[in-house]
Amino acid sequence: MTLTAPRPDSRIRDGRLDPEVIRRDFPILATESHGHPLVFLDSASTSQKPLAVIEAVDTYYREYNANVHRGIYEIGERSTAAYEAARSAVARFINAPDAHEVVFTRNATEAINLVAYAWGRKNINRGDAIVLTEMEHHANLVPWQLLAQERDGDLEFIPITDDGVLRQDVYDVLLRLKPKLVAFTHVSNTLGTINPVVEMTKMAHDAGALVLIDGAQAVPHVPVDVQAIGADFYAFSGHKMLGPTGSGALWARRELLEAMPPFMAGGDMIRDVHLRRSEWNDIPWKFEAGTPDIAAAIGLGVAADYLRELGMERVRDHEQELLTYALIELMREHPDLELYGRMDATIRCGVIPFNVPGVHPHDVAQVLDRSGVAVRAGHHCTMPLHERLELDATARASFNVYTTKADVDALVAGISEVKRIFG
Ligand SMILES: Cc1ncc(COP(=O)(O)O)c(C=O)c1O
Repeated sequence: MTLTAPRPDSRIRDGRLDPEVIRRDFPILATESHGHPLVFLDSASTSQKPLAVIEAVDTYYREYNANVHRGIYEIGERSTAAYEAARSAVARFINAPDAHEVVFTRNATEAINLVAYAWGRKNINRGDAIVLTEMEHHANLVPWQLLAQERDGDLEFIPITDDGVLRQDVYDVLLRLKPKLVAFTHVSNTLGTINPVVEMTKMAHDAGALVLIDGAQAVPHVPVDVQAIGADFYAFSGHKMLGPTGSGALWARRELLEAMPPFMAGGDMIRDVHLRRSEWNDIPWKFEAGTPDIAAAIGLGVAADYLRELGMERVRDHEQELLTYALIELMREHPDLELYGRMDATIRCGVIPFNVPGVHPHDVAQVLDRSGVAVRAGHHCTMPLHERLELDATARASFNVYTTKADVDALVAGISEVKRIFG
């Protein structure tokens, strides 16, 4: 089937997103799974891609596939221009003051590792504290464990309440240790909790610490303005915000990027190379060694523009409404369902971890899958968080701009089927 994208202005009706129209941008949502229409509720893992992104990647390979920053020929110049225009689109999306402060990476994991390696190895010394939280994705935990082991640093953790909110009182106490860095997630990938990033950043700065924010689950769902947040590093993936896999970015303040040594070394990140020494390129290219994923970066730029056109305030409103609907429906139809996180859509994104009593989440996911409903089951790369909540695993449903109330209804019906099968 050939799909044509809907008219841009039809995606918004009465100031609100119309997910039924938006869905027509996503070819995969017209497909079937196990003979049922696909109900994709695993967007926190990776989002689906709109036609505009798919076509941008396709056009790059069909019409101007050439390396960037090298070819003195027409398609090479076109490819470089598109790659750098994508950087500007990403910078606009997060309101970065300067596109040169945006480094393209493969994903959020690489962006965080870049900081742990390049900034961390230069700045963390014996006894220096790094403050993290109990709700971090492994991507914002394990790189700091490696760094602390190597540099003899200390890791401290802001605990969470039983309903998955950071204990600000303990954070205040931890800041008295004068940490060098505070690194925390903007939005929890497991609980959906939206952390108060502006306040927490200010508190860290007042205590003399730098701040890294893991924005992987924030950029697809809430407006992000890195200048208003005031943090020092902001890392995110492109593939969760409608962009291609292999795309992501690190935003950091210019002075920090300029002072940091390179992360990886090789072509493109140098200005001048001699047999025994080299000089580095300007930022951001100093941190982009080797041939980048050019098509993915171009696709990410298109995804950022697509979301900007929808309006991130509207995206947030849509997901808040859907989350409220889902929590109410799930609690009404399945009062015995175990739900985690705070039942408050004003500080939560569209992420619902749950357990059906007596049924392993993998079995839950498998039964749902048979009716075309895709959810994730496991620890969602947050093993310490599951340990804190005394859980082995959870099933998780997560939303995006194309998620509808009908998708939620399919989840609710699928859980009834799980209960029927498992008695
Ligand atoms: C909060 C958070 N941080 C980091 C990551 C890592 O993202 P990626 O696998 O794209 O590097 C994820 C992915 O699920 C995430 O949810």
